[in-house]
Amino acid sequence: MNKSYYKDHWLDIEPDRLDRYEAMFKWSLTAEKVLAPADVAPGQTIADFGCGPGYAAVELAKRVGAGGHVHALDINAEFVARTRARAESEGLSDRVTVHQLTDGTLPLEDNMLDRLVTKNVMVYVDDPAASIAEFYRVVKPGGIAHIVDSDFGMNVIDPVPAAAWRDLLDAAAHAFRTPTVGRQLYGLARGAGFADVQVAIVAIPDTHGRALHFANNIAGYARDSDSAFAEADIQKIIDVATKALADGRFFALNPQFMVTCTV
Ligand SMILES: C[S@@+](CC[C@H](N)C(=O)[O-])C[C@H]1O[C@@H](n2cnc3c(N)ncnc32)[C@H](O)[C@@H]1O
Repeated sequence: MNKSYYKDHWLDIEPDRLDRYEAMFKWSLTAEKVLAPADVAPGQTIADFGCGPGYAAVELAKRVGAGGHVHALDINAEFVARTRARAESEGLSDRVTVHQLTDGTLPLEDNMLDRLVTKNVMVYVDDPAASIAEFYRVVKPGGIAHIVDSDFGMNVIDPVPAAAWRDLLDAAAHAFRTPTVGRQLYGLARGAGFADVQVAIVAIPDTHGRALHFANNIAGYARDSDSAFAEADIQKIIDVATKALADGRFFALNPQFMVTCTV
């Protein structure tokens, strides 16, 4: 298994996974809730680190208004193109600059941002401490870096047996650089020098099956792994979750760590 799989699977995304991402990354109640502490306001200059297909970047561009600006950054060429197209179709291209990243440094000047937001990206970066040091560099004094991420030690899908789901997540662990990054964000932000770091956790129950997209991605990563997980056992987990959704019994939880860091 390639050691950089956690990054490679974002650089090169198969068409069926791209389709799932279009559904997963739409602006949602969860996105609204977890980004609220960033306190985005008209006139601000903002970065969205790991912008995906651009739903949040476009939403943020509406909120900063004509006097503000959004820098959307991602490593995936297709997401960069989709974010540009999305901003253009909303008539917001003058307010959104899209950057394709090739390494851990941000193509942004020191102290230039009022806000940096990043959602579900830190789990994938090569070096979370180095990324957070970059956030500290580009956010101006008094500004905020708002970092949101999961901790896959705390993820549940019921009625999939807990041990089976845990084993599947473990078999997929090569797809994440730091699967337990959620609990580490506070310490990392303090280490980077942020003066004030506030942590809150949001856990919105999913009974509508959004997490099935995530489960299918996890199943795909497990299939791509060196683990001894049998295909029949992987499929059984997906079948239990799919049937539970059909029966109205599906329940998933993926707690989001919201870490609001003021320079
Ligand atoms: C789970 S998606 C989240 C997308 C979006 N932030 C959202 O919440 O809808 C992770 C995103 O991070 C990007 N990504 C992965 N590794 C990255 C890195 N090292 N630097 C910047 N972006 C990265 C991926 O290409 C993908 O768009």
